[in-house]
Amino acid sequence: MNVTNLDSATFGVTDLATCRRFWTDFGLVESQADGATIFSCKNGGTVVLRAADDPGLPAPIEPGATQREATFGVRSAADLRTIANELERDRPIRVDADGTVHATDPLGFAIAFRVARATPITAPELKFNTPGRPDRINTRGEFFAAAAPLEMTHTVFMIDEPDKVVPFYTERLGFIASDSYPGRGYFLRGGASNHHHDLFLLNIGKKRGFHHLAFEVSNIHELFGGGLNMTRRGWRTALGPGRHPISSCYFWYFHSPCGGAAEYDFDSDQVDERWVPGQFQQTPEVFAEWCLAEGMADSLLYKGVQSADTIKTKS
Ligand SMILES: [Fe+2]
Repeated sequence: MNVTNLDSATFGVTDLATCRRFWTDFGLVESQADGATIFSCKNGGTVVLRAADDPGLPAPIEPGATQREATFGVRSAADLRTIANELERDRPIRVDADGTVHATDPLGFAIAFRVARATPITAPELKFNTPGRPDRINTRGEFFAAAAPLEMTHTVFMIDEPDKVVPFYTERLGFIASDSYPGRGYFLRGGASNHHHDLFLLNIGKKRGFHHLAFEVSNIHELFGGGLNMTRRGWRTALGPGRHPISSCYFWYFHSPCGGAAEYDFDSDQVDERWVPGQFQQTPEVFAEWCLAEGMADSLLYKGVQSADTIKTKS
């Protein structure tokens, strides 16, 4: 089916002003189109904000502000026709003038498919000094006052009936499980995607809802700089910073006024057909190699951390 990426995520929001401030601080760029407020990352992937009571939005999966539709990118109009034909076998679909196909999955999550608008992006070259490899010689290290995410990478649905929904994505829409917690979580990538996952289906029991949306940044220093900036601006950490063994990435999650959380990631696995999927038990060690539960603040927020003398006097 040639799904390449998560191309857009549409939210129904109850406090547009706060949501606008959140995504601006997160590092996305605002614009307006078709009566919606749109935030873009550098490769053109978008977060779309509309009022929660906008009649044009798909039905919500849960009350309050939440993700209302996840739009996946495909390679071509022919892929869209293939997907439309498959979906039409057992559910209603809606097709926009531009060919975008809208439907709902077996649990009621609204999904859409369109020829991808987000474009491949190349991060700036990483330069680190290590012994014998002075790749950053005579140049000071980078510090980031804020993040500017390169691309949106995945969305996460909280599900309650994996047997009903996982085969829908894998057997009918061509998604591939890169890794899984059997019965508990499925990291799915599109059939033509190199992301470790474009969609994570997380079975946390009897609840359906939106969990989080993730963005990749260019540099570990940017992940920390972005997280510190969000903290300075008053946004609450949901979890992190830390590092996930599955997908290998560094992460930092923030509670979002659009519902769920938004995640900065760095150094996520990228995979192709040679990737060997793993099956894991869901344990704290598999979830995070390490993490801080409540974020961290920059030096200005730590009273008394003025200089190296602080370390000396505490030792
Ligand atoms: Fe994530």
